[in-house]
Amino acid sequence: MKKFYLTTPIYYPSDNLHIGHTYTTVAADVIKKFKKMQGYDVYFVTGTDEHGQKIQGKAKENGLSPKAYVDKIVADIKKLWKVLEIDYDTFIRTTDPYHEKAVQDIFTKLYEKGEIYKSTYKGHYCTPCEAFWSESQLVDGKCPDCQREVHLAEEEAYFFRLSKYRDKLLKFYEENPGFIQPESRKNEMINNFLKDGLEDLCVSRTSFDWGIKVPFDPSHVVYVWIDALACYITALGYGTEKDENFKKYWPANIHLVGKEIVRFHTIIWPALLMALDLELPKKVFGHGWILFEDDKMSKSKGNVIYPEPIIDLYGIDAFKYFLLREFSFGQDGSFHREKFLQRLNSDLANDLGNLVSRTVTMIEKYNGGIIPSPVEEEEIDNSLKEMAINTAPKVEEYMDKLNFSQALEEIWKLIRRTNKYIDETTPWILAKEDKKNRLDTVLYNLSESLRIISILIKPYMEKTALEIRKQLGIEEEILWEDSKVWSKLQSGAKVERRKIIFPRLDIQQELKKLNEANEKLIAERSKGKKGDKVEDVKKEEEVKEITIDEFAKVQLKVAEVISCENHPKADRLYVLKLKIGEEERQVVSGIKEYYSPEDLVGKKVVVVANLKPVKLRGIESKGMILAAEDSEGNLTLVSTLEDIASGAIIT
Ligand code: MSP
Repeated sequence: MKKFYLTTPIYYPSDNLHIGHTYTTVAADVIKKFKKMQGYDVYFVTGTDEHGQKIQGKAKENGLSPKAYVDKIVADIKKLWKVLEIDYDTFIRTTDPYHEKAVQDIFTKLYEKGEIYKSTYKGHYCTPCEAFWSESQLVDGKCPDCQREVHLAEEEAYFFRLSKYRDKLLKFYEENPGFIQPESRKNEMINNFLKDGLEDLCVSRTSFDWGIKVPFDPSHVVYVWIDALACYITALGYGTEKDENFKKYWPANIHLVGKEIVRFHTIIWPALLMALDLELPKKVFGHGWILFEDDKMSKSKGNVIYPEPIIDLYGIDAFKYFLLREFSFGQDGSFHREKFLQRLNSDLANDLGNLVSRTVTMIEKYNGGIIPSPVEEEEIDNSLKEMAINTAPKVEEYMDKLNFSQALEEIWKLIRRTNKYIDETTPWILAKEDKKNRLDTVLYNLSESLRIISILIKPYMEKTALEIRKQLGIEEEILWEDSKVWSKLQSGAKVERRKIIFPRLDIQQELKKLNEANEKLIAERSKGKKGDKVEDVKKEEEVKEITIDEFAKVQLKVAEVISCENHPKADRLYVLKLKIGEEERQVVSGIKEYYSPEDLVGKKVVVVANLKPVKLRGIESKGMILAAEDSEGNLTLVSTLEDIASGAIIT
């Protein structure tokens, strides 16, 4: 049997994943289901990325050991995957002992081969913070965290000879044009990172110890990205006696990742594999982000959308369908609840739901609930048949390119065509005119097209596929190849009208329901989790340095709050009017939990004045008010500006 190995990134243990987080995993799961139907032996790995300084710090703040701290979060992540019926084969945690041992062996092997060497890391050291800073990170020559003096220092560290792989990587990209997808991401990698050469990579840390210890030098822990990337092979048993899965499935067919981590997967990861003399993955696909009304989702902005309320109200099939149909996989897209509800009504209720209920109802009404045999064919039937049996190859073609949206569109073309067939053949007139033979044929063809549709949608919407088959009385196993043949459906089966698969919804009413459910969950989670937030446990090592010129692009100004009103659609937001010099403008801000309108009106605050305007829950916001939030969830506005006029520029 043909093998297919597929991975998602391993997730940071961030409490309460939002819909954006679910994107990679939902997509991977659909690929697995699709490939399995095509007859592949698929192996799917996901997991959690649990080491690093931030986690250690968060755990300490919570009075827990890092392991105890992440255990609870990992359990929640697994619970969410269960709710979404994600069918992974291995859930790897970087704290799993077998993984830790394998990473230590990999590190030792690379050291012994001379691929890793010991040297010194140079930088500005802040003793109280125990942190190294580069020149450009310093603020007025001082520690950006505590504003104390720093001194030049050196620290021993291990380095991976990444620089020597630059040409090999470029050659590999050239010889394997499908390796980085979409194509634009390949150009980004070449132009932004490889063109001007690569530097060796620092792959150990001594400033914290929540990590995998370098076995021959235990005051060092392994850099989290080396630890994390290695999961893709350690999850298969690489470096252990039980390495059958590694031998069977490696190299990966697809590493599915979000666009921001393509660099790690297409530069560091292949270089490491080359250094280990291992085969390289066949493809890294960097998908786009799901934004909230054009803005990045984040808990602190109050604009996260959680999957649970959507699933509770409309089911996982509707949720998965929307994620994969609405957005172009390679590009960013904005999530709008209204669009979700509109698609539910148009694609799921009107197109698919209607087709199922019309077909079953007519078979009950005109043929006693029994699927008839086709007897009297007409020319018009051919166009339906042809489209039906030719949809699967088109879906395959799009799925090969991970173009979920177009693959679904092809299936929906068939659904809409079948609905149109009802209008063209008018079975109610055939019944009235007693044209039994023709009526039987039409009813058979409708059911047969639905049988094919039920196969085609199965990877994306399993429950719905099975429900359709139940209603049509089809008992045979679902096989992909059966979607390419006509006349497979057995006549004589008894249909069963059950519930309407996607009832039509009142959009305004549902919008309110959905908003309320999400807001309620946000409130519950922020209440229950004060001081327990790891939302921002983000790629510490990835924080990009900026130059003074880049910083100069941000225009910070003093503003005076002149009015403050509740946001009409969001419980946690205010709509503020600000006076910035002569100018008046409106800003939406998530500070309601912390300040009352009386506190705010008359107050001087700092705004980012040249931020691109966005709409937050339908209200335009021109700028952002700066505030500081600590890990306990306390928030205070940046403001010691009472003696200065609004409009003053902060330099
Ligand atoms: N731990 C690293 C990956 C290491 S892999 C060896 C990591 N974790 S993450 O939790 O930050 O991200 C997990 C996945 O969720 C990534 O693919 C990321 O792109 C995806 N998403 C997180 N927020 C997202 C959106 N808003 N939209 C789409 N996907 C995003 O990175």
